[in-house]
Amino acid sequence: MKNCAIVGTQWGDEGKGKIVHFLAEKADVIVRYQGGNNAGHTIIFDGKKFVCHLIPSGILEKSKICLIGNGVVFDPLEFIKELEELEEAGYDCQGRLWVSDCAHTILPYHRLLDAAKELKSKNKIGTTKKGIGPAYTDKAARQGIRLAEYIDDEAFEKLLSANLENKKEELGCDIDKLKNEILAGRNKIVGRLRNFVADTSILLAQNIKDGKSVVFESAQGTMLDVDHGTYPYVTSSNPVSGAASCGSGIGPGAIQEVIGIAKAYTTRVGEGPFPTELDDEIGEKMQNIGGEFGATTGRPRRCGWFDAVVVKTAARLNSLTGIALTKIDVLDSFEKIKVCVGYKYRGKMLTAMPANRYAYQELKPEYIEVDGWMSDTSQITAYDNLPMKAKDYIAKLEKLCDTPVSIVSVGPDRKATIVRDL
Ligand code: GDP
Ligand code: IMO
Ligand code: MG
Repeated sequence: MKNCAIVGTQWGDEGKGKIVHFLAEKADVIVRYQGGNNAGHTIIFDGKKFVCHLIPSGILEKSKICLIGNGVVFDPLEFIKELEELEEAGYDCQGRLWVSDCAHTILPYHRLLDAAKELKSKNKIGTTKKGIGPAYTDKAARQGIRLAEYIDDEAFEKLLSANLENKKEELGCDIDKLKNEILAGRNKIVGRLRNFVADTSILLAQNIKDGKSVVFESAQGTMLDVDHGTYPYVTSSNPVSGAASCGSGIGPGAIQEVIGIAKAYTTRVGEGPFPTELDDEIGEKMQNIGGEFGATTGRPRRCGWFDAVVVKTAARLNSLTGIALTKIDVLDSFEKIKVCVGYKYRGKMLTAMPANRYAYQELKPEYIEVDGWMSDTSQITAYDNLPMKAKDYIAKLEKLCDTPVSIVSVGPDRKATIVRDL
């Protein structure tokens, strides 16, 4: 199998976890390269369900090596929780799961600052309150504490004291008490954590040299990318494929394929523009059939038609070599299906999202409408057996997004995956 990056093409929750787990069967190494435990990647197989937040979705393939790269913001307490859940379920991780010593840590004060900002701000982002933004802010401001320092008693205490002193006013709480709580929490887990810390860049390079194949796993989606997404309603990192190399510590030549995961419709959690959003019974129907509730926060996901402007943009930004189209089964009972092909804005037709945030509210989606297939696709295992109208829909999306659909997903279970022979 070629080394392959898996990216979300919309606003997240496209089914990355399912597809990474599916592809992990044939790969040797799975590496997460950005984001943190704001992600919620659902994996369903053999009647079991798991949600991975920080640990790569490949971990459920028992013989695979999983890496958490330097581009990830890493909450040590949450990591240990997730690790223990996996171990309880029979997944031994020691010796095959490694976290970059360069990954920046998310500390309890990052979570406090994230939540406080959301509470106070007039223009809410609707973050997951996991401390992602404040941790990346510290990283860019050169005030972060990396994992290598977190596991070093002396270095950590020194850096923590300095950071808390800096943030005293912003935090507005008893700094000494907070410091003691942070140290106590850390001391409980740090012995365990040390077994998982490594230079993951060297490990990755060695594996590639040995001819092993790698899946690069993104979190979030292209429209949540801090550079290319619907700023400021974005996350604080780069989910696009270009960041896979930087965030895992390997050159871009190591990535040979890029698969974009796209839902057959669109969803979004949190605030921000969503031109094809359906605030009516059709959107409600998508939400109910698709089970569209956040895997991390449980919030209902906003739903709407497939936006080809968004996915075509994602194809360009990520150099997609293929699309994995997920959840087409959710559209099985829709008589008519719409696809957005452009936005009307002040009398002009736009074929990309504008950069000026004040234009977002004025975008009016332009649709084409196709017939639905009105039959159950969830048991279909071969592309040729899909209803003709479903194949027409897929062909239309391929054309509009300028990318072949190489995988079709017809249900949440790993088995409900059709790989196309293109
Ligand atoms: P991720 O964050 O991109 O990994 O996606 P999530 O796990 O947050 O959300 C995707 C949801 O859709 C999960 O509940 C999956 O189990 C489910 N899912 C994935 N693929 C399919 C599919 O083809 N059909 C249906 N019905 N559900 C799917
Ligand atoms: P996966 O990997 C969907 C959204 C939040 C919010 C914005 C910023 O499961 O696709 P943050 O906590 O990152 O600072 O929040 O980004 N968001 C996601 N939406 N899926 C995700 O992850 C998300 N991770 C963050 O809802 O709007
Ligand atoms: Mg998710």
